[in-house]
Amino acid sequence: MTKIHPIDVILHKRDGLELRDEEIQAFIRAIVEWTPRQQLVTDAQIASLLMAIFLQGLNRRELATLTSAMRFSGETFDAAPLKTFTIDKHSTGGVGDKTSLLVAPILAAAGLAHPNEEGIPGICVPMISGRSLGHTGGTLDKLETIPGFNSQLDLKQLAETLRICGAALIGQTPRIVPADRILYALRDHTGTVESPFLITASIMSKKLAESLNALVLDVKVGCGAFMPTYEKSRQLAELMVSTGEAAGTRTVALLTSMEEPLGRFSGNWVEVWECVDIMQGKRHPMSADLIELSLALAGWMLHLAGQASSPQQGAQLADQILNSGDAYQAWLKIIAAQGGDISVFEDPAAHHKPAARRTLNATQAGYLSSMDCRLAGWAVQRLGAGRAKPGDAVSAHAGIESHVKLGSRIEEGQPLFTLFSEDPLKLDQPEQMLRDTLRITPQPPSIPPIVREVVSATPTGNLLTPEIP
Ligand code: URA
Repeated sequence: MTKIHPIDVILHKRDGLELRDEEIQAFIRAIVEWTPRQQLVTDAQIASLLMAIFLQGLNRRELATLTSAMRFSGETFDAAPLKTFTIDKHSTGGVGDKTSLLVAPILAAAGLAHPNEEGIPGICVPMISGRSLGHTGGTLDKLETIPGFNSQLDLKQLAETLRICGAALIGQTPRIVPADRILYALRDHTGTVESPFLITASIMSKKLAESLNALVLDVKVGCGAFMPTYEKSRQLAELMVSTGEAAGTRTVALLTSMEEPLGRFSGNWVEVWECVDIMQGKRHPMSADLIELSLALAGWMLHLAGQASSPQQGAQLADQILNSGDAYQAWLKIIAAQGGDISVFEDPAAHHKPAARRTLNATQAGYLSSMDCRLAGWAVQRLGAGRAKPGDAVSAHAGIESHVKLGSRIEEGQPLFTLFSEDPLKLDQPEQMLRDTLRITPQPPSIPPIVREVVSATPTGNLLTPEIP
């Protein structure tokens, strides 16, 4: 870091001062230019700055500068030669949140059905995803349970995969958004995940590096969300929408309910299995919320891409694409193009091989009224699906299966969850955590809709909330 010293940047933010653009840019450069021989900034200093930002926040200018410095910390994708409509979605993080595994193939199938004059899919999804973070799961960790799957494509391979498949599912690499790769891993272990500024910079730096025409964000609200209140989730949505719009990407955020794990399974391979089942036409009743949310997100994306006159029509079109098997064909194409062994999808249940499993049964009758979804997420991570420290391997087979949903009528002795782990010693604590999360009452609860609100921007940049779809 020339002239600007890391310690000064940390002290300025710690003391509540505004950081200058040069300070932010120099700090991010120092993070990515680090080599074992040239330690420009230490992990301890990076973690200190993250905590200072967590506690003091950033103003709009600082946030825009941080997002842009992270976006340009490595190579960025240029979609212009493809002459296609680029669009993506991203979630702020949830439990059992696997909508990307359904939405990307749905959009890819829509793009493959409408190629441009050069035969390239008319819609392309260059999706850069993340790993597990805090109590939430990560799309990359799920995808990497597929034997052979390569999430570390370079930009040439990314363009080629899009040209053939209409979507590619990759991660931050040492060359693509490297700053987020480093900050993301450190935030996971330093209590600095739940900052609206750090979340915005992390998500928007990745998404803006994809050269997107449009972006649909899934901002979680409720006890499983990173933000502690509805209002704070809404502020996060507004920050991300205004950051995207200011960078020229049409951005819409759906505020969606995260009061319980989404779908039937939470974990890594088990979530891939659940999505493959759905794409093969097997719709398990426990997957109903996952399907509803995926169709709402895909519906908005198809609408923004010009294939549907409204988000509702888009959701219907997405449902047709899913039902017809076209999304499954697109999925097979994407996974095979990225080196994955697609034979595992012939019988995904057979590839679920946890060494230990345990079922948690109800000790009383009533209705499942609420649960602490964040604690449920931590239970999934402690079963082995998440990391204790950066670089740890995650278990492919750890996770939980939900047998009930909020509002379900429960009889005493009925199975509520099944826990899976690769280590029998890892079952006790998560079982207790799950048990502690549940509230069973004599009366049925009222359940909020899965999509609570939509945050969008007018052409002038003023935020408004259109009708709930
Ligand atoms: N997803 C990301 O990519 N980053 C965050 O900070 C949270 C969710």
